[in-house]
Amino acid sequence: MENKCGCWSALRRTASCKPSLESRTTNSVHDAAIETRYLNASNREMRAPNDPQNSSDLNPNQLLEFSFHELKSATGNFRPDSILGEGGFGFVFKGWIHENGTAPAKPGAGITVAVKSLKPDGLQGHREWVAEVDFLGQLHHPNLVKLIGYCIEDDQRLLVYEFMTRGSLENHLFRRTIPLPWSIRIKIATGAAKGLAFLHEGTEPIIYRDFKTSNILLDTEYNAKLSDFGLAKAGPQGDKTHVSTRVVGTYGYAAPEYVMTGHLTSKSDVYSFGVVLLEILTGRRSMDKKRPSGEQNLVMWARPYLADKRKVYQLVDPRLELNYSVKGVQKVAQIAYNCLSRDSKARPSMDEVVKALSPLHDLNDFAVLSYHARLSQQGRRKNKQEGTQNITLSQSKWFNESPRSVGKHHCK
Ligand SMILES: Nc1ncnc2c1ncn2[C@@H]1O[C@H](COP(=O)(O)OP(=O)(O)OP(=O)(O)O)[C@@H](O)[C@H]1O
Ligand SMILES: [Mg+2]
Repeated sequence: MENKCGCWSALRRTASCKPSLESRTTNSVHDAAIETRYLNASNREMRAPNDPQNSSDLNPNQLLEFSFHELKSATGNFRPDSILGEGGFGFVFKGWIHENGTAPAKPGAGITVAVKSLKPDGLQGHREWVAEVDFLGQLHHPNLVKLIGYCIEDDQRLLVYEFMTRGSLENHLFRRTIPLPWSIRIKIATGAAKGLAFLHEGTEPIIYRDFKTSNILLDTEYNAKLSDFGLAKAGPQGDKTHVSTRVVGTYGYAAPEYVMTGHLTSKSDVYSFGVVLLEILTGRRSMDKKRPSGEQNLVMWARPYLADKRKVYQLVDPRLELNYSVKGVQKVAQIAYNCLSRDSKARPSMDEVVKALSPLHDLNDFAVLSYHARLSQQGRRKNKQEGTQNITLSQSKWFNESPRSVGKHHCK
């Protein structure tokens, strides 16, 4: 990774001038943290005390150290109306700090930040907090969220990130009423793929392990940035093919071979990327208990459609109507199919995924255009036959058909 950001290996080896965060951990939290197994609602598990420490010595040199009081002021006393979201770790608040240093600023002044605070009972959280500071404090890339600093004071554990204006991809795909346009979906998929490729392709590869839509954050221009490195793990060393671990992650995203054997490789992340790509394509959640039984597991439901070029358009998020690239959908389906291969070795690398996704930005063959073209052709023929004029689009059979049924026509 040195070659890409110039900091990873160097920082790993540099001794911190501050005492290590681990050594400053209070006993009570540490005792809590040595619980051997803890699964929270989002299906995460904390590392057992005897697990080898996978990460380097913590090095917060480039990070700001905030006091609890500063962050309390920065978030207006952790006001409920400044809550941006809640995850397994705890609440995330919006706050403001001065441009230089850790001093709190008035709302709207200085820099806007997101402050994540560990739940008081977040037993799994301390280890994840350490991993987050350890990994994200040292990794810098346009597709990784920037960690600005942290707070460790008594039992309080907080993290301060750059504020991502548009929140998470999960919000945009599943909660907002306005659907994300096709071109933005491609931009987000490519950005997130670049983030994963950066982690995988460095001299000291990292496996992210928690790739999902809620961990993909978006800035004003819909640039995607990966957040949450609490479950990240250093990749296999030397001639090792995999890392053996306990199974952690989130249901619906984890690769089947990893769930069954605990053998972790970068191809586990590639599988999770395939799941997210499918969510982007379909607008459906990876697991959705509200759907009929055969449709609850997205991958199981979608696989037969992905494999059949004539059926692939039936997967497209119906909220897009005909506003998607015809070739783009085929290509995205093919990439998702490859990433979701049951044989992990057959999955592409994330570099290959980035290369396959990048050209899709330039495709302008929108389904709606081809239908307008067919429509006007049809209209012309009809006019000729019937001598009628001015057939409007809304009177057309093509226009009134649902995107799902018309989608099939693309593959003829
Ligand atoms: N840097 C940020 N800028 C803006 N919003 C953020 C930021 N970080 C997190 N959020 C918001 O807070 C929500 C909760 O984030 P968090 O990472 O704690 O949990 P999660 O990813 O939803 O779930 P899990 O704990 O299972 O990973 C996110 O979905 C997002 O909407
Ligand atoms: Mg998250």
